[in-house]
Amino acid sequence: MRGAASPWSRLALLCACASALSIAGLLAAFPHARVRSFVSGSPRPSSRPPLTLTRSNTFTIAIFADLHFGEEEHGWGIEQDVNSTRVMDNVLQAEKPDFVVLNGDLITGENTFRENSSAYVDQIVQPLLRTRTPWASTYGNHDSKFNLSRASIYQAESRYELCYTESGDHSLPGITNYYLPVWTAESKSPALILWFFDSRGGASYQGSPPDVDDIPNWVAPEVASWFSNAQSQLRREYGEDIPGVAFVHIPPQVFRSAQEVGLDPSRYPGLNEDVPVDIQGRGSEDDAFVAALLSAPALHSVHVGHDHGDSWCSTWPGEDRASSAPFLCFAKHTGYGGTGRGIEVRGSSSSRFRLEGTATWVSRLG
Ligand SMILES: *[C@@H]1O[C@H](CO)[C@@H](O)[C@H](O)[C@H]1NC(C)=O
Ligand SMILES: *[C@@H]1O[C@H](CO)[C@@H](O)[C@H](O)[C@H]1NC(C)=O
Ligand SMILES: *[C@@H]1O[C@H](CO)[C@@H](O)[C@H](O)[C@H]1NC(C)=O
Repeated sequence: MRGAASPWSRLALLCACASALSIAGLLAAFPHARVRSFVSGSPRPSSRPPLTLTRSNTFTIAIFADLHFGEEEHGWGIEQDVNSTRVMDNVLQAEKPDFVVLNGDLITGENTFRENSSAYVDQIVQPLLRTRTPWASTYGNHDSKFNLSRASIYQAESRYELCYTESGDHSLPGITNYYLPVWTAESKSPALILWFFDSRGGASYQGSPPDVDDIPNWVAPEVASWFSNAQSQLRREYGEDIPGVAFVHIPPQVFRSAQEVGLDPSRYPGLNEDVPVDIQGRGSEDDAFVAALLSAPALHSVHVGHDHGDSWCSTWPGEDRASSAPFLCFAKHTGYGGTGRGIEVRGSSSSRFRLEGTATWVSRLG
């Protein structure tokens, strides 16, 4: 059940180009008149400069999903990582994003070495450093393995001043449960909240026996409660619901429902090779998270990776475009690493938002 019509419902749906996925634009949610004095205390204080919209009130986000660095260290794996780096360079050059989200499975941890597993982070971020593009991550199921821990990835990326990843509330299961406000240039009031969730999964670091996936692979109910509480807190602080966009690695079960109900490729083109969608848990463990996503009053869209052969967007099953339910979107598989149906249609790429009435799309820049 949904509340009053969201700001999104007033928006036209635009389609950018043949290979583009397009979902509702964001501009109407950002009325220029919304100028408010600075409210002291950012929700999550950080030493990094605040993220802000550009002068033309845009914020472009490229999503790099499933980079899978470090799969092999004698030949093809090295070339694969060089290729993935080229894809990132190409996307950054073509799209000039203001921000990048690394949406999980940065590294294929089952193939890396205990001594230097997280050193791949230093390779991954080179294109971001070259272009001075700030980024934030969620972690995926391959980021927790016998020789690789999420904590070590977090430590490795946090050393960079362009890294906005946070480790969230330590009492919550997982690491990458946090949010980042994006402020308006003039008024310093948040125009957009970027929400990050940890769908966990993978194997315990140095667990026994090695590399048995023993970590629950869903967003924990405690995180769903944290999400709802954080939204209430923001609403109290700013007097309204701030539009949001969510990132999580493994698709919540609602993505499978959307696929079952039927996608609309004429409106939302994109690969649909992973059928059925591999989802969080067995289809009910993430009930609380899915309910929280649906009842989030101003959540524009949920962006996932994990299923390398899927790159579609969809409306929430049972809801139409006018509904305030978030859109569901796969980020295009970016890395040359990782297997899956349909990835020979390489299209390694990104999705992107522009907060001016356009859209998110997949650019094929492999
Ligand atoms: C790297 O990219 C080139 C050019 O697309 C391709 O021919 C080659 O097979 C790729 N190598 C690997 C290991 O993916
Ligand atoms: C973990 O790293 C060690 C040391 O480099 C290596 O010998 C071993 O094969 C790796 N094990 C797994 C399960 O990846
Ligand atoms: C990690 O160590 C292995 C084995 O010594 C080496 O081949 C590989 O290049 C190293 N990887 C990184 C990212 O440093």
